[in-house]
Amino acid sequence: MEYYQIAIDGPSGSGKSTLAKGVAGKLGILYLDTGAMYRACGLKALKLGISTKDQAAVEEMMKDIRIDITHEDGSQHVWLDGEDVSEAIRMPGVSVAASDVSAIPCVREAMVDLQRKISEGKNVILDGRDIGSKVFPNAKYKFFLIADAEERAKRRLAELKEKGVTDQTFEDVLRDIKYRDHQDTTRASSPLVKVEDAVEIDTTHISIEEMIDIVLDRVAKDQ
Ligand code: DC
Repeated sequence: MEYYQIAIDGPSGSGKSTLAKGVAGKLGILYLDTGAMYRACGLKALKLGISTKDQAAVEEMMKDIRIDITHEDGSQHVWLDGEDVSEAIRMPGVSVAASDVSAIPCVREAMVDLQRKISEGKNVILDGRDIGSKVFPNAKYKFFLIADAEERAKRRLAELKEKGVTDQTFEDVLRDIKYRDHQDTTRASSPLVKVEDAVEIDTTHISIEEMIDIVLDRVAKDQ
């Protein structure tokens, strides 16, 4: 049997995880949130007090890191060195730390290997920045999500509020998003790019259901 991958790429807050989770539920396939893995690496650096920009120190840190992904009732859990960090990785400071360490090649290599290993022998939908360009360049379905930065910041702020994080203003979140947009698209190692064979979806003004339908229609056409 041949398995397929659905690649969802795009900048922070463009709706990737909501879309990927929704599609995975409808199709009964595995959803892998790859950003969570980079967040776990960023969190480890913060815990150790390592500068997330210090390539040599991060390389040393990567020699002794264990990241595991488990799925319980359809939701993904991320384990860092045996500890469930699924909630800790969503805290605001971790976003920027994840973006910083994700620019370091040895971090990317380790995470890409892990993503391919987890996806082996399954139909999967992955969201991230380099899924269609690097992790699965031959993925059967590729989508690239975009949305206005202000709209993305609004969504992130609402997510944080829902998690009880109240010390962030709209301006704080917008600044982090712009910082990450710049860094994630300009880094030398697997920058965020829209590959030629990806279908672009502008999510600024469409509902989650509409996004999910665009992907499901595409997949259904093939079955
Ligand atoms: O999707 P996210 O916001 O949880 O991702 C956090 C950071 O991780 C993001 O700013 C860039 C990095 N990342 C990456 O470089 N490649 C991926 N496939 C996923 C995330």
